[in-house]
Amino acid sequence: MSWKKQSILSASQFSKEDLLDIIALSEKLEKALETKRNLKLLDDYILATLFFEPSTRTRLSFEAAMHRLGGRVISAVGMQFSSLAKGETLFDTLKMVESYSDICAIRHSVEGASALAAQSIKIPVMNAGDGAGEHPTQGLLDLYTIFKRGFLTKKPLRIAFVGDIRYGRTIHSLVQLLAHFGAAMVFVAPDELQLPEKYQKFLDNSKISYLKTSSIDAIKEVDVGYITRIQEERFIDHREYEKFKDAYIVDHALIEKCQPHIAIMHPLPRLSEVSTDLDNHPSAAYFEEAHNGLYVRMALILGLLGINY
Ligand code: CP
Repeated sequence: MSWKKQSILSASQFSKEDLLDIIALSEKLEKALETKRNLKLLDDYILATLFFEPSTRTRLSFEAAMHRLGGRVISAVGMQFSSLAKGETLFDTLKMVESYSDICAIRHSVEGASALAAQSIKIPVMNAGDGAGEHPTQGLLDLYTIFKRGFLTKKPLRIAFVGDIRYGRTIHSLVQLLAHFGAAMVFVAPDELQLPEKYQKFLDNSKISYLKTSSIDAIKEVDVGYITRIQEERFIDHREYEKFKDAYIVDHALIEKCQPHIAIMHPLPRLSEVSTDLDNHPSAAYFEEAHNGLYVRMALILGLLGINY
């Protein structure tokens, strides 16, 4: 079954053909926006954005994507500003969203919340991050960024994931997408924040070679360094967070020791793990990564609504 007219709940649902199709459509939309501000393809459609955890990039790029396609947006941001704060269930909230909109994007702190939403309503649901689970649309824009940097066809593409791999939902999604392209992966984290067993099993079954290490030196050999924030909000014991929060810092001095073509990616927001002294360096790909979210999310909205372009 094609990725179109579905919900997007997990990176595991995509075939390699789907991914190449999404990349091609994103590229086409990026090109179209060079000459037009509004593609006027979704005049009669409404996107609902439901963000029950903080967000800047994901919500704003979904909303900008809908506007650039000519559609409209309604939004519920923060539990405290919806009737969830009065005790309404998520199910009842979703039934309202279904009756007001044609497609929705949901961020929630509970893993599996988007999947439950998709079972409850008939409009397409896009998982915009479910707790420490997945963030598949971020994984897709990360893939598009790797493609645009010219690394997706490299044999093998070598990528190091650095930081909070246990709770980093964007990593959980991207790992599954990159497996289709035979990437060689290194996971750089303290033991306590290493890749969950579920994804290790997935990589074993997919016959993807990977290495786990706590040494940042592994980044010196790779094409892409994918750095992540230590996810303070996921720690039950705050002392554990304090122990790991400054585990890794990627800065100009370190990049000088890396491959000259390395791309440094980060889903953002960043704290101190990527130094601002890298921002104007050719390796810095994190702002273009966030920018690419616009095109990829335009492609996803069109595909899920079944609009050909
Ligand atoms: N990358 C990402 O999910 O950013 P936001 O939390 O700002 O949406």
